[in-house]
Amino acid sequence: MAAGRGTRMRSVLPKVLHPVCGRPMLHWVIAAAREAGAGRVVCVSRPGDGVAEALPAGVEAAEQRQGEGTAAAVLAAREQIDGAGTVITLSGDHPMLSAELITGLVAAHREAGAAATLLTTEDLDPAGYGRVVRAADGAVERIVETKSPETVPPDELAIREVNLGTYVFEAGALLEALDAVPEERAERYLTAVFPILRERGHSLAAHTTRDAAAAIGVNTRVGLMDAEEVARRRIAERHALAGVTLHAPETIAIDAGVEIGADTEVGPGTVLRGDTRIGSGCTIGPHTTIVDSRLGDEVTVLRSHLAECRVARGATIGPFSYVRPGTEIGEEAKVGAFVEVKNSRVGEGAKVPHLSYVGDADVGARANLGASTITANYDGRRERKHRTVIGAGAHTGVHTSLVAPVRVGDDAYTGAGSVVTQDVPDGALGVARPRQKNVEGYAKRSEGLER
Ligand code: UD1
Ligand code: CA
Repeated sequence: MAAGRGTRMRSVLPKVLHPVCGRPMLHWVIAAAREAGAGRVVCVSRPGDGVAEALPAGVEAAEQRQGEGTAAAVLAAREQIDGAGTVITLSGDHPMLSAELITGLVAAHREAGAAATLLTTEDLDPAGYGRVVRAADGAVERIVETKSPETVPPDELAIREVNLGTYVFEAGALLEALDAVPEERAERYLTAVFPILRERGHSLAAHTTRDAAAAIGVNTRVGLMDAEEVARRRIAERHALAGVTLHAPETIAIDAGVEIGADTEVGPGTVLRGDTRIGSGCTIGPHTTIVDSRLGDEVTVLRSHLAECRVARGATIGPFSYVRPGTEIGEEAKVGAFVEVKNSRVGEGAKVPHLSYVGDADVGARANLGASTITANYDGRRERKHRTVIGAGAHTGVHTSLVAPVRVGDDAYTGAGSVVTQDVPDGALGVARPRQKNVEGYAKRSEGLER
């Protein structure tokens, strides 16, 4: 398997590490190879490009230290190739290649008894791909590269059948042919082995697919968009078949590794990223983003952003909540409109319904925070965060500021508008605001002043 250069992506990241629905392109290809039954997977990369470090467990790395081009890449794995076996060569930049396509290619190779079989299609825009030139009898003769179309004869440029860079070789014949591959424009092309094999009397076969989506090659970020569109649809279909309803699926982006339980509904504009697991019977979205989080069954999340948090069964979140890392929301708890929660525990059945900031806090079971209750967790001078504890069954009045570290006891209350700087004992009412003073006749007096 070849991997490496990323120049045409205009990126510091090697091309094959660009994610497609949250998973590096290369990992899609490796997963397809494994699903197709590959016994050993070897990935060729450049020294120091970071690709070898990003391989999934069990994949062997080979470094391409010498030479440029796809033939040089395969030669870099020479030590790992068993000369008596069959080798399948895949490109790291065809992420949507499916296991079925690989299996079909291998079957065609065996059936033809060929020394080399390549995967082709006539169903892609052929621009930039190598075209398959066939002899009068229909046999594969050679591949002509078309990256510089002005150098290609018009009759060859008119060929619709393109090489997808996916091949099966009898390894012995491949290795011998590779040694004979000449340099062209300072590169050694893997495709040059075909005429060499042919000259040496080996038979070549082609297996043509009509699955254009699975054939997409990524050379630029436009290709990346095309691949992602295919991946998104594949992922959506997998969830749909497993019992998840997706509304307006073309507006939903679900990463490859996300798990969702049956009878969960996902609304338009929802983005589910990374290592996220969602239970069954949930309502997620519309317009919700969830990153690296765990949600139990029957959770509702509307128009909200959640990252690195846990939400237990039956909790409701949103609309317009921001739930940040380190947060655990208990069963049947409610985090409501315009509420931000960070690194906090919101106990079972507790409610934070409106306009609050809860940071570094432990909110007990069944506690109810009045609208706009705010934890002042940040100690501006010593730059430290302090915890706030709100006991089980406690009620804070609207506009309560809790200046941490502070504790509101179990079943305790705070008065509306209080700035709570001292602990409130269990069952007590803490009122921490100036007493109201009424200035009699104020309106008349101020009228007098205006004159
Ligand atoms: C290659 C084929 C072309 C085919 C196309 C399909 C050759 C000469 N041409 O062209 O016929 O239509 O794939 O997508 O093979 N790589 C290395 N080391 C290198 C060069 C490339 O590891 O020195 C890797 C790339 O990272 C990539 C793969 O090999 O994963 C293909 O290389 P790329 O340069 O993209 O080949 P294309 O020009 O697209
Ligand atoms: Ca390519």
